Amino acid sequence: MLNNKLLSERLMVKSVEGGPINRLKTYFRPYICPMNLLLSFIGREDRLLDIGCGSGQFALLAAEFCRPVSITGIEVSAVLIEHAKRLFQNGNYETKIEFSLYNGTDLPEFVTQASIVSVIDVLHHIPKDLQISFLQQLYLKMSPGATLLLKDIDGASAWVWFNKFHDLLLGGGPGNEFALAAITKECLRIGFTIEHVVKTRMYWYDHYLLALKKAPSTTAP
Ligand SMILES: C[S@@+](CC[C@H](N)C(=O)[O-])C[C@H]1O[C@@H](n2cnc3c(N)ncnc32)[C@H](O)[C@@H]1O
Repeated sequence: MLNNKLLSERLMVKSVEGGPINRLKTYFRPYICPMNLLLSFIGREDRLLDIGCGSGQFALLAAEFCRPVSITGIEVSAVLIEHAKRLFQNGNYETKIEFSLYNGTDLPEFVTQASIVSVIDVLHHIPKDLQISFLQQLYLKMSPGATLLLKDIDGASAWVWFNKFHDLLLGGGPGNEFALAAITKECLRIGFTIEHVVKTRMYWYDHYLLALKKAPSTTAP
């Protein structure tokens, strides 16, 4: 797996919009979020859709280290979309890269074009009453056989309060983190199959990663 120092340095070379706090957040992101683990799921043949792409940092690492066919990032913040576009503006990538704004409720129809979808630390920012409908809608729009990488903070961990404090300080307000057991049950109920479950603690952040699959379509004999 790629090492965190390499990922951090790569982000720092290309970034950063905003002031010193943003630079710190960018530099330390690979040390507190398992970017290297997430990247290990992306192959050259993939078409990646990153939902809640922020300022495009995961997209940048995926473009540089995984070189999939295409990367599309969607975000609810117009400012972050502009940051993401600027992050790529002088690069020369084999990968086709696009970013677009979305309203946070209606997922675009082009979800169907993705072979792999990443939702990284986004679910806990979605209002509590919309979280399950977001996943249901995503499941319906994903193409059969596609993979969802759902990475978030485990709400069952006592350490979740550190994430709430982090979000309160830097992210606009505390989030709605699911316990791993509860979100796993919901994903199965929606129809996903579970390919991998990874739990990992990085400093005081307890993460889960679910690699979920929408079943390939079956053709009648
Ligand atoms: C903690 S940041 C994670 C950014 C990025 N995925 C990463 O891992 O670096 C959460 C992101 O989710 C976005 N967000 C919040 N609500 C959303 C929604 N309903 N749909 C998509 N993105 C959303 C925020 O604007 C923010 O960029």
